[in-house]
Amino acid sequence: MQILDGKIVSQAVKDAIKIKTEAAKSAGKKTPHLAAILVGSNGASETYVASKVKSCEEVGFKSSLIRLADTITEAELITAIEELNADLDVDGILVQLPLPKQISEAKIIGLIHPDKDVDGFHPMSIGKMVQGLPTFIPATPYGILLMLEHYKIDTKGKHAVVIGRSNIVGRPISILLSRNAYPGNCTVTVCHSHTHNLKEICLQADIIVAALGIPGFLTADMVKENAVVVDVGITRVKDDTKKSGFAIKGDVDFANVAPKCSYITPVPGGVGLMTIAALLMNTFNACEQK
Ligand code: GUN
Repeated sequence: MQILDGKIVSQAVKDAIKIKTEAAKSAGKKTPHLAAILVGSNGASETYVASKVKSCEEVGFKSSLIRLADTITEAELITAIEELNADLDVDGILVQLPLPKQISEAKIIGLIHPDKDVDGFHPMSIGKMVQGLPTFIPATPYGILLMLEHYKIDTKGKHAVVIGRSNIVGRPISILLSRNAYPGNCTVTVCHSHTHNLKEICLQADIIVAALGIPGFLTADMVKENAVVVDVGITRVKDDTKKSGFAIKGDVDFANVAPKCSYITPVPGGVGLMTIAALLMNTFNACEQK
């Protein structure tokens, strides 16, 4: 069993971005600039956005954090996005999800200029991704691809089972893994809360992507010997032994599943770190394409 180490791979990606950013700046090009909007004070969202902003600094990007109250109206958030769309210095815009219930996420995502859509959530970006055209790929699926590529994991002709059908992870990774590309060329099964015989389907999988957000959901009896397991879960669970008062748990029962796997991602230290590295890649590319 080999660990797919998000720390090592994300650092390699960030090092490469840092070198490219320094070279671009030396050549007189502008500094990539990511603007993040955080609405409200959801603890997990605070942590994610703080890591994204810190990672921008690490690779030499400029970043702006726009904090808005969770009582904000949809119209006010739209105005904030329009300002960032019009700001020539801003290359990438990300609106951290989830948003408060008075705001339509679909409407907000659809208003981000597609050239600045570094989260890859705009219908234009998703449409291009489905057609295999160059575009921004959502950060978590993109991070998973970078991880599979780094470890040269054979994906061609493999049966990949994706558990979860969210717009952010499950749906896009299922499309990407079925593309005629590397990593890709998988036969993909998408499973969700209405799937019958989930265990039997998982037992047929060469690759499992667990992206449903239920801690410890994927147990050893659902995984065949030598499978590749990618754990996308990052749920906070109460843990009084931790200073923060919580621990981060993945969707996989790691202790019992790992011994059966050829490769597995840990949580923390796996896919989460790759998401940030992929977001930086998208931001660098957004700047280059200007
Ligand atoms: N919330 C959970 N994951 C993500 C992500 O990748 N991007 C944004 N903007 N919000 C999220």
